[in-house]
Amino acid sequence: MNIRFLATGLLAAAISSPAVAQMSVEDQIETRQSAYQFAAWNMGKIKAQAVEGSVQFDQKQVAAAANAIAAVANSGMSVLYSRDSANDRAENTRLKPEFFEEPMKVQEVAVNFVREANTLQELAAGGDKAAIARQFAKVGETCKACHDNFRAE
Ligand code: HEC
Repeated sequence: MNIRFLATGLLAAAISSPAVAQMSVEDQIETRQSAYQFAAWNMGKIKAQAVEGSVQFDQKQVAAAANAIAAVANSGMSVLYSRDSANDRAENTRLKPEFFEEPMKVQEVAVNFVREANTLQELAAGGDKAAIARQFAKVGETCKACHDNFRAE
């Protein structure tokens, strides 16, 4: 399945899925924050081993970390974003309301995140440290693109 089509489907699912109504706003916020923390923990492992070299490179650990990041990216997180969970309506969140005003931009950053995370997963399985380091930077750019647009300071 084409990634752009998939992401469009996920966004449509976010609007129509009964899972949104069943999950409280508090649970949506906590779950997405945990998912991003988990992704960040795994990004940190790849950075230490493949980019900085502060920890010895272990291909299996790097591949496991990349699998975890790709799993987060592909998990269908859009259902964790309801309008009521933005920071103008909910507590303890940095999600900006702009997220719901710019659906094309949201789709773009989400599609890029999934694509680059999937490529990182493929490269990590191959074990080429330099290629992994380059792709790590690309994934990091997709994290930042979303944060710059939709995460408050
Ligand atoms: C589609 C947009 C998007 C992408 C892609 C994204 N983030 Fe985020 N991130 C957010 C938003 C929005 C928040 C704020 C969530 C909240 O407070 O409800 C956030 C919060 C976080 C947090 C803080 C979590 C907490 O405990 O409050 C971390 C850490 C983080 N992101 C890391 C990452 C990393 C690392 C990546 C890439 C591997 C990434 N994010 C990709 C949108 C994104």
